[in-house]
Amino acid sequence: MIDVQSLTMTYRRRIQCGQRWGIPRYRWEMVHALHEVSFQCLPGTVTAYLGHNGAGKSTTIKALCGILRPTSGQVCVNGFVPSRREHDFLQSIGVMFGQRNQLMWELPLMDSLDVIRVQYGLNKGEFLDTLAELDSLFRFGEILHTPVRNLSLGQRMLGNLAATLLHRPRVLLLDEPTIGLDVESKASLRRVISAFRQKSCTILLATHDLQEAEMLADQILILDHGRLLFGGSIAEFRRLHRNSVVIQARLETPVSELDMADAELSQDGRIITIHTDPERVATRVAELLRMYRIRDLKIGETPLETLLREELKAFVSAD
Ligand SMILES: Nc1ncnc2c1ncn2[C@@H]1O[C@H](COP(=O)(O)OP(=O)(O)O)[C@@H](O)[C@H]1O
Ligand SMILES: [Mg+2]
Repeated sequence: MIDVQSLTMTYRRRIQCGQRWGIPRYRWEMVHALHEVSFQCLPGTVTAYLGHNGAGKSTTIKALCGILRPTSGQVCVNGFVPSRREHDFLQSIGVMFGQRNQLMWELPLMDSLDVIRVQYGLNKGEFLDTLAELDSLFRFGEILHTPVRNLSLGQRMLGNLAATLLHRPRVLLLDEPTIGLDVESKASLRRVISAFRQKSCTILLATHDLQEAEMLADQILILDHGRLLFGGSIAEFRRLHRNSVVIQARLETPVSELDMADAELSQDGRIITIHTDPERVATRVAELLRMYRIRDLKIGETPLETLLREELKAFVSAD
């Protein structure tokens, strides 16, 4: 269980401001990375943490695992205050930063995992049981016996994830684990996340991948410039949005321009796209049928990515 109340994080950054007699001069600047952020993540759920670069996702994860102490506010993970870094707390969390490697470069993956086993004080039996279970999700194959330096990016991510899961954490914090990965590695990660959710693990996944969020998340948190814009389910997010339905009409004959202000026309002039409210779908379809000769019509949900882009745009203009 993760409970965050009014979390505020401020960094001090040193900025060079000119020189004097050839010696650089500096001043300190405050960076407000998080401002009064509050949310909860429950056991057995996946929370997708979404936001642009610099929104404050990694800072939150660092506060949750105790690397950083909050400037103000409270953070509670599994009943512990993370910044105290107590032994039982550290045994109960697993953290993975997507672009960092915690494996030993020259050793086969299996040896690295064995070192981590010793660090966490796991006996050989437990270790082999967990490894067998992870193998059914990861399908390790040869990679367990390959030196880490010879693994592909995707295989290394799986190795790092295995290292994060060996001690069976109850809270899993993943910071952009799939950045730059192929489809197969992403599918493995999804299998692992679903399996750990079933075991009542609390999972927080910072990601840029909205498809991943859509597939996995019970809850989404949308962060922008250190402020939480939305916290709730994807269905709730869609309900809040005016344009949560997309209508696409393919025309019998292409047109060069449209008589509808809020519709988009594809470059070849054949497809009209309208984003609209669920209650206005029938009216809009009737309008389309009256004005154009339609070959086929598709009605679906607006992709999360489009809604999120609109949400962030609306927030910027309201600022
Ligand atoms: N060690 C640091 N010192 C100063 N500023 C930092 C530091 N780490 C992050 N920041 C700043 O805090 C803000 C949030 O960063 P971060 O949490 O890494 O965002 P995200 O993970 O969403 O991309 C950014 O403006 C970033 O430049
Ligand atoms: Mg980050």
